Amino acid sequence: MTVSQNQIEKLKSAAIEVSKHSYSPYSNFSVGAAILTSSGHIVTGCNVENASYGLTICAERNAIFQAISSLGIITVVAVVIYTSAKKPSTPCGACRQVIHEFGSSAEIHIFCNNEQFVSTNIKDLLPDAFGKDSL
Ligand code: THU
Repeated sequence: MTVSQNQIEKLKSAAIEVSKHSYSPYSNFSVGAAILTSSGHIVTGCNVENASYGLTICAERNAIFQAISSLGIITVVAVVIYTSAKKPSTPCGACRQVIHEFGSSAEIHIFCNNEQFVSTNIKDLLPDAFGKDSL
Protein backbone atom coordinates (compact mmCIF):
# COMPACT_ATOMS: atom_id res chain seq x y z
CA MET A 1 0.00 0.00 0.00
CA THR A 2 1.48 3.33 -1.05
CA VAL A 3 -1.19 5.80 0.01
CA SER A 4 -0.45 7.36 3.42
CA GLN A 5 -2.69 6.81 6.44
CA ASN A 6 -3.29 10.53 6.48
CA GLN A 7 -4.57 10.47 2.89
CA ILE A 8 -6.74 7.43 3.62
CA GLU A 9 -8.32 9.29 6.56
CA LYS A 10 -8.99 12.27 4.27
CA LEU A 11 -10.57 10.00 1.65
CA LYS A 12 -12.62 8.25 4.32
CA SER A 13 -14.04 11.57 5.55
CA ALA A 14 -14.91 12.50 1.97
CA ALA A 15 -16.59 9.11 1.42
CA ILE A 16 -18.63 9.46 4.62
CA GLU A 17 -19.66 12.97 3.62
CA VAL A 18 -20.79 12.01 0.10
CA SER A 19 -22.65 8.92 1.39
CA LYS A 20 -25.05 11.41 3.01
CA HIS A 21 -26.17 12.33 -0.52
CA SER A 22 -26.96 8.71 -1.39
CA TYR A 23 -30.35 8.24 -3.02
CA SER A 24 -31.18 4.72 -1.89
CA PRO A 25 -34.87 4.51 -0.91
CA TYR A 26 -35.19 0.94 -2.27
CA SER A 27 -32.21 -0.74 -0.60
CA ASN A 28 -31.68 1.67 2.31
CA PHE A 29 -28.01 0.90 1.71
CA SER A 30 -26.11 4.13 1.39
CA VAL A 31 -22.64 4.09 -0.12
CA GLY A 32 -20.04 6.80 -0.59
CA ALA A 33 -16.82 6.47 -2.55
CA ALA A 34 -13.82 8.76 -2.73
CA ILE A 35 -11.09 8.21 -5.27
CA LEU A 36 -7.55 9.54 -5.25
CA THR A 37 -6.10 10.20 -8.70
CA SER A 38 -2.43 10.11 -9.64
CA SER A 39 -2.64 13.90 -10.02
CA GLY A 40 -3.61 14.15 -6.34
CA HIS A 41 -7.27 15.00 -6.86
CA ILE A 42 -9.97 13.57 -4.61
CA VAL A 43 -13.32 13.01 -6.33
CA THR A 44 -16.42 11.54 -4.71
CA GLY A 45 -19.63 9.78 -5.69
CA CYS A 46 -22.61 8.16 -3.98
CA ASN A 47 -25.03 5.47 -5.12
CA VAL A 48 -28.12 6.74 -6.92
CA GLU A 49 -31.04 4.31 -7.26
CA ASN A 50 -34.07 4.31 -9.53
CA ALA A 51 -37.60 2.88 -9.41
CA SER A 52 -36.42 0.92 -12.44
CA TYR A 53 -33.88 -0.87 -10.26
CA GLY A 54 -31.41 -1.81 -12.96
CA LEU A 55 -30.67 1.83 -13.67
CA THR A 56 -28.99 2.26 -10.28
CA ILE A 57 -25.43 3.54 -10.36
CA CYS A 58 -23.03 2.46 -7.64
CA ALA A 59 -20.98 4.97 -5.67
CA GLU A 60 -17.64 3.76 -7.02
CA ARG A 61 -18.58 4.06 -10.69
CA ASN A 62 -20.29 7.39 -10.03
CA ALA A 63 -17.06 8.73 -8.47
CA ILE A 64 -14.90 7.53 -11.37
CA PHE A 65 -17.28 8.94 -13.99
CA GLN A 66 -17.47 12.26 -12.11
CA ALA A 67 -13.65 12.37 -12.05
CA ILE A 68 -13.36 11.77 -15.78
CA SER A 69 -16.10 14.30 -16.51
CA SER A 70 -14.36 17.01 -14.54
CA LEU A 71 -10.67 16.18 -15.03
CA GLY A 72 -10.45 14.09 -18.20
CA ILE A 73 -8.88 10.64 -18.21
CA ILE A 74 -7.43 9.83 -14.81
CA THR A 75 -5.44 7.09 -13.15
CA VAL A 76 -7.08 5.86 -9.97
CA VAL A 77 -4.52 5.31 -7.21
CA ALA A 78 -6.95 4.51 -4.41
CA VAL A 79 -10.65 3.99 -3.85
CA VAL A 80 -12.09 4.46 -0.37
CA ILE A 81 -15.59 3.19 0.16
CA TYR A 82 -17.92 3.85 3.08
CA THR A 83 -21.21 2.09 3.73
CA SER A 84 -23.61 2.63 6.58
CA ALA A 85 -23.72 -1.15 7.10
CA LYS A 86 -22.30 -3.06 10.06
CA LYS A 87 -19.61 -4.76 8.03
CA PRO A 88 -17.43 -3.53 5.18
CA SER A 89 -18.67 -4.65 1.77
CA THR A 90 -16.42 -5.01 -1.25
CA PRO A 91 -17.24 -3.39 -4.63
CA CYS A 92 -19.61 -5.22 -6.98
CA GLY A 93 -18.31 -6.91 -10.13
CA ALA A 94 -19.25 -4.03 -12.44
CA CYS A 95 -17.39 -1.55 -10.23
CA ARG A 96 -14.33 -3.81 -10.06
CA GLN A 97 -14.20 -3.86 -13.86
CA VAL A 98 -14.47 -0.06 -14.08
CA ILE A 99 -11.89 0.48 -11.32
CA HIS A 100 -9.53 -1.82 -13.22
CA GLU A 101 -10.02 0.17 -16.44
CA PHE A 102 -8.75 3.39 -14.84
CA GLY A 103 -6.57 2.02 -12.04
CA SER A 104 -5.24 -1.46 -12.63
CA SER A 105 -3.05 -1.18 -9.50
CA ALA A 106 -5.54 0.72 -7.33
CA GLU A 107 -5.67 0.23 -3.58
CA ILE A 108 -9.12 -0.28 -2.12
CA HIS A 109 -10.01 0.58 1.48
CA ILE A 110 -13.48 -0.19 2.76
CA PHE A 111 -15.07 1.19 5.91
CA CYS A 112 -18.45 0.77 7.57
CA ASN A 113 -20.29 2.30 10.51
CA ASN A 114 -17.98 0.78 13.13
CA GLU A 115 -14.25 0.23 13.49
CA GLN A 116 -14.09 -2.68 11.02
CA PHE A 117 -12.34 -2.12 7.71
CA VAL A 118 -10.84 -4.06 4.82
CA SER A 119 -7.77 -2.97 2.86
CA THR A 120 -7.18 -4.72 -0.42
CA ASN A 121 -6.44 -3.89 -4.05
CA ILE A 122 -8.01 -4.35 -7.44
CA LYS A 123 -5.51 -7.02 -8.49
CA ASP A 124 -6.75 -9.27 -5.69
CA LEU A 125 -10.42 -8.39 -6.19
CA LEU A 126 -10.33 -8.93 -9.96
CA PRO A 127 -7.66 -11.49 -10.81
CA ASP A 128 -6.98 -12.23 -14.48
CA ALA A 129 -8.94 -9.13 -15.40
CA PHE A 130 -10.15 -8.44 -18.90
CA GLY A 131 -8.66 -5.11 -19.93
CA LYS A 132 -7.03 -3.02 -22.62
CA ASP A 133 -4.24 -5.57 -23.00
CA SER A 134 -6.73 -8.36 -23.69
CA LEU A 135 -7.88 -6.81 -26.97
N1 THU B 1 -23.82 -0.42 -4.30
C1 THU B 1 -22.77 0.44 -4.46
O1 THU B 1 -22.96 1.67 -4.45
N2 THU B 1 -21.54 -0.08 -4.65
C2 THU B 1 -21.27 -1.42 -4.72
O2 THU B 1 -20.16 -1.79 -5.05
C3 THU B 1 -22.31 -2.39 -4.37
C4 THU B 1 -23.69 -1.87 -4.33
C5 THU B 1 -25.17 0.13 -4.13
C6 THU B 1 -26.10 -0.14 -5.26
C7 THU B 1 -27.43 -0.08 -4.57
O3 THU B 1 -27.87 1.27 -4.52
C8 THU B 1 -27.16 -0.53 -3.16
O4 THU B 1 -25.76 -0.45 -2.98
C9 THU B 1 -27.61 -1.95 -2.87
O5 THU B 1 -27.15 -2.84 -3.81
